Amino acid sequence: MLRFIHISDSHISTPDYANYGHRSYPNLAAVVNAINALPFSVDFVLHTGDVAQNGTAEEYALAKPLLAALRFPIYYANGNHDDCEQLQRTLLGVQAPSERYDYTFSVRDAQIAVFDSVDRRGHTGILLESQLEALRALCTPEGAPLIIALHHPPTPLDAPWIDRGWSEPERPPHSTMLLANWRAFQAAIAPARQRLRGVFFGHVHHAHQVWHNGVFYCAAPSTFGQLASFPEQRLPQPTPEQPAAFNLVTVDGEQVTVRQCAVARPAASSA
Ligand SMILES: [Fe+2]
Repeated sequence: MLRFIHISDSHISTPDYANYGHRSYPNLAAVVNAINALPFSVDFVLHTGDVAQNGTAEEYALAKPLLAALRFPIYYANGNHDDCEQLQRTLLGVQAPSERYDYTFSVRDAQIAVFDSVDRRGHTGILLESQLEALRALCTPEGAPLIIALHHPPTPLDAPWIDRGWSEPERPPHSTMLLANWRAFQAAIAPARQRLRGVFFGHVHHAHQVWHNGVFYCAAPSTFGQLASFPEQRLPQPTPEQPAAFNLVTVDGEQVTVRQCAVARPAASSA
């Protein structure tokens, strides 16, 4: 049995940084405390990106002690608000950061593959052809139970603003929130369907699950603030009344159980 916590989109900036009354730093501190207070152990914590708001060394230096206080090991995916080099250098202490932050690790009998889905030219998510090749090589039918993690949703989520993007007056149009080449991603993972326990991602700032073509797709809520994603919703819409939250994932044989755990947010700032 494998158990992990899935968190995402913490957007750490300054200690006071706030949006719609949510402060990212105290919210993440509250989430870390809640995880550490769980009356059981998990194997690891998975953070699917946007650790920092602007990707500066100062932001990662601020986030580092907070996340180091977790009593479980933590693994990260690179998000579009992150800086791949600073995430590795400042947050993780890597001396020679890789250009894209892709890696795999094993826990118990499972293999976890983390892909860097950030398009360096913009905010769209993308996997390069070399990454798709690595994904195809990984996703063979036979092998250990497999978990895949990345920042961008690699399947449509039944919400127009996420799936197709949006435009607002006097602002540049925003493209899709999805991994732009999600069809290629899905073709690459298809052979591993029988052993693939789930694809875990963030970026959309709310808990969201999709079952598509025999694969379970699961988004973690943000530790910072949530966005609504209803059918036919054309624009992103903050839901400041919703608390910070994390997902608790249990993989037991072929069963995957996901619980969403809300965390009371610290007193709202006046921002
Ligand atoms: Fe993001």
